[in-house]
Amino acid sequence: MFPERVVSGMRPTGALHLGHYHGALKNWVRLQDEYPCYFFVADWHALTTHYESTEVIEESIWEMVIDWLAAGVDPSQSVLFVQSRVPEHAELHLLLSMVTPLGWLERVPTYKDQQERLTDRDLATYGFLGYPLLQAADILIYRASHVPVGEDQVPHIELTREVARRFNHLFGREAGFEEKAREAIRKLGSKRARIYNQMRTAYQEQGDEQALERGRELLDQAQNISLGDRERLFGFLEGSRRIILAEPQALLTETSRMPGIDGQKMSKSYGNTIAMREDPASVEKKVRTMPTDPARVRRTDPGEPEKCPVWQLHLTYSDEGVRDWVQTGCRSAGIGCLECKQPVIDAILREQAQFRERAQPYVDDPHLVQNIIADGCDRARKMAGETMREVREAMGLLYD
Ligand code: TRP
Ligand code: SF4
Repeated sequence: MFPERVVSGMRPTGALHLGHYHGALKNWVRLQDEYPCYFFVADWHALTTHYESTEVIEESIWEMVIDWLAAGVDPSQSVLFVQSRVPEHAELHLLLSMVTPLGWLERVPTYKDQQERLTDRDLATYGFLGYPLLQAADILIYRASHVPVGEDQVPHIELTREVARRFNHLFGREAGFEEKAREAIRKLGSKRARIYNQMRTAYQEQGDEQALERGRELLDQAQNISLGDRERLFGFLEGSRRIILAEPQALLTETSRMPGIDGQKMSKSYGNTIAMREDPASVEKKVRTMPTDPARVRRTDPGEPEKCPVWQLHLTYSDEGVRDWVQTGCRSAGIGCLECKQPVIDAILREQAQFRERAQPYVDDPHLVQNIIADGCDRARKMAGETMREVREAMGLLYD
């Protein structure tokens, strides 16, 4: 309905590590070739859990953006910005909060989970309950079509879709909607108008989803209609309302299998990470002391890669040839664990050399990063402002 667009955010809560790179960032880098992308530092989101230690947020913001750039996120392709510098997110959050039933937020699985898991903090706050709705505002304000997120965040995208639907239902009403929609159909030209009407009938009378899809494609291709008419025609295809906020889809990011240096999932809270731009000597030491299959007590004891976290690293870093060498050598005790770890160490160091090289100009001159963000914030604010104008108008808040 609106042009395809990707939006995603990341909380600034410390240096990014290889789990972030192989989980989320690599995916962002790939997506920026396929879609216009908006990536932002979710500093308000970090506040919902770290309101007692805001210095972490401040320290992490610039380092995190440098890590994005180090990963290959390209500021000439993607818009990079900081959430709190686009205050329109807060306005939309507030307006959406008026129409979002409390139960929808209480039922979000991360709400109870995190309260139970993060017992060292008091999360019985209004902001914490509302944070999935803030996320909905982050997404809806750019009318994103796709949102790359991990599995745990999928319920938030579901909530976003429900909120958009409810908003459109409540505020997409307009006097004389049907006449305006019919007038807009005429503007499509006779051939397109005929197909549009057929698709609309097929969807509304037989629930034909494919017809709905075709109708949408047809509107995507129609260049000669105004934004208002486009919203009407998308809405008229399915019912009797304008569509002001677009329902996004989750793009599920495969959960990274990256183990930390103790064999558990790599995570800052376990203190088992390798940072994206960690010092090479430290990387080498961490991998060399990583636990392996406990069955290999002596060099002559055979092992089983499936029981060894180092094997998980080979799955990310090694090609077929090296993997065969590991499997055979491990099971026959033909290779030692240090020998087995060496190709992983080499591969991580090669990857990190690239990160460091990309990061260097920004480390040398922090103004470059600040300029990228300032420019991204301007672009984001412009788009957010356009959406907000329509939202205010739809809600009857213009008063003029
Ligand atoms: N809630 C997300 C997380 O904790 C971060 C986030 C905030 C986000 N707003 C977003 C992700 C919008 C995608 C889209 O990881
Ligand atoms: Fe793990 Fe490699 Fe040692 Fe086997 S040889 S236990 S895969 S480190």
